[in-house]
Amino acid sequence: MATVSLRFFSSSPSSALASLLCFLLLSGVSFAADPFVSYDFKVSYITASPLGVPQQVIAVNGQFPGPLLNATTNYNVVVRVFNNLDESLLLTWSGIQMRRNSWQDGVLGTNCPIPPRWNFTYQFQVKDQIGSFFYSPSLNFQRASGGFGPIVVNNRNIIPIPFPQPDGEIIFMIGDWYNQDHKALRKILDSGKELGMPDGVLINGKGPYKYNSSVPDGIEYLTAHVDPGKTYRIRVHNVGISTSLNFRIQNHNLLLVETDGHYTSQTNFTDFDIHVGQSYSFLVTMDQNATSDYYIVASARFVNETVWQRVTGVAILHYSNSKINNLLEVYMKNKMGVIDFFQLH
Ligand SMILES: *[C@@H]1O[C@H](CO)[C@@H](O)[C@H](O)[C@H]1NC(C)=O
Ligand SMILES: *[C@@H]1O[C@H](CO)[C@@H](O)[C@H](O)[C@H]1NC(C)=O
Ligand SMILES: *[C@@H]1O[C@H](CO)[C@@H](O)[C@H](O)[C@H]1NC(C)=O
Ligand SMILES: *[C@@H]1O[C@H](CO)[C@@H](O)[C@H](O)[C@H]1NC(C)=O
Ligand SMILES: *[C@@H]1O[C@H](CO)[C@@H](O)[C@H](O)[C@H]1NC(C)=O
Ligand SMILES: *[C@@H]1O[C@H](CO)[C@@H](O)[C@H](O)[C@H]1NC(C)=O
Repeated sequence: MATVSLRFFSSSPSSALASLLCFLLLSGVSFAADPFVSYDFKVSYITASPLGVPQQVIAVNGQFPGPLLNATTNYNVVVRVFNNLDESLLLTWSGIQMRRNSWQDGVLGTNCPIPPRWNFTYQFQVKDQIGSFFYSPSLNFQRASGGFGPIVVNNRNIIPIPFPQPDGEIIFMIGDWYNQDHKALRKILDSGKELGMPDGVLINGKGPYKYNSSVPDGIEYLTAHVDPGKTYRIRVHNVGISTSLNFRIQNHNLLLVETDGHYTSQTNFTDFDIHVGQSYSFLVTMDQNATSDYYIVASARFVNETVWQRVTGVAILHYSNSKINNLLEVYMKNKMGVIDFFQLH
C-alpha cells in the first residue's frame, strides 16, 4: 500500500497541480469540504460511588467518564456544551493543535468561562492530526470530580497506519481519585494545606477489583472482554490530578505505537509509567491461557509504595473462551469492535 501511494505522488501530478496542492496544504485554511462531526455535551452533576462512598461527580450526557469524541484527520469538530453545573465551566482539548484557533482551546485567558446554565459551541479542525487525546474541564479544579472523556482522531483511509489494523480498540482512562468532590478539595488547597494521599485510582470511573482484603466489599470494577488470539489497540490516558501511574496487564506485553498523537518506534514493555495528562496507544495480543483472568493495574509511582498501597486501580481482563464466569459487567460492543465502557448502568 505504502509503495503504491508513494509512486503515485512521485510520478504523476503535474507541477501546476503539485504547487496547487502545496498551497492548499500550507495555507492552513479550514475547508468547508472537510467533513463535520458534531456533538452535544450536557455537563452536569450525578451521584456515583466509585470507591464505595457516594459523592457528586461531573458527568457528560449522564456518563462518567464522558462519551468518546470520535473524529478523523482534518475533520471539523463542533461541540455544543451546555453547562448544567452551579459554577463556570470551560472544556479544554489538550493536544489538539488549534491552528489559528487558540480561542477554541477552552482555557482561561483565551476563552470566557461558560456561566452556569449557559451554553457555548466550540468549533475546531483536527488539522493533520492523528491519535489519542482527552478533553477535561480546565477551571475550578473540576477535573478532580470528572468531566473528562476520550478523543480519538483516526487516520484518513488513504494514509495507512504503521502497524497492522488491530482487531479492536479499548480505551482506559486511569487517574488518582479522592472521595471528596472538587469543591471540598479546592477548599483544602485554598487554606494552604496539601491534599495528601488519594483515596484510590479509578479505571474508566470504576474502583478496584477486590484483589486484596484491604479493598472494601461491593465496589463496582471494570471487566475488559477480549477474544483469544486477537490484537487490540489499547489507548491509555492519565486523567488524574497529580499521581504518576504505572500501567500493566498481567502476563501481556504492551507494544508501544503512539504517544500523544505521534507514532513511535515500536517497543515492547511489560509495564509503562504514564504521567498526568499523557496518552499512549499500545498493541496488546491476547496470547495467554484463558484458564484464568488477568489483572489490569495502574499503581502509584515515585511515592513510598508501602504507604500508598491503596492508590492502585485494578480491572479484569477476561477472555471470551474463559471458563471463569465473573461477568458482573454490562458491556456493549459496537460494530468496530470498540468496547464502550462509558455506558452507565
Ligand atoms: C469513528 O469514526 C469513524 C469514521 O467516521 C467510524 O468509521 C468509526 O466507526 C467511529 N468509531 C466509533 C467507535 O464510533
Ligand atoms: C445558548 O445560549 C444562547 C446565548 O448564548 C441562547 O441565546 C440560546 O438560547 C441557548 N441555547 C440553548 C439551546 O440553550
Ligand atoms: C493486603 O491487605 C492486607 C490486610 O489489609 C495488608 O496488610 C497488605 O499489605 C495488603 N497487600 C497489598 C499488596 O495490598
Ligand atoms: C512484542 O511482543 C510480542 C509478544 O507479546 C511479540 O510477538 C512481538 O514480536 C514483539 N514485538 C517487538 C517489536 O518486540
Ligand atoms: C493452560 O493452563 C492449564 C492449567 O495450568 C494447562 O493445563 C494448559 O496446558 C495450559 N495451556 C496452554 C496452551 O498453555
Ligand atoms: C516507606 O514508609 C514506611 C512506613 O512509614 C517506612 O517504614 C519506610 O522507611 C518508607 N520507605 C522509604 C523508602 O522512605
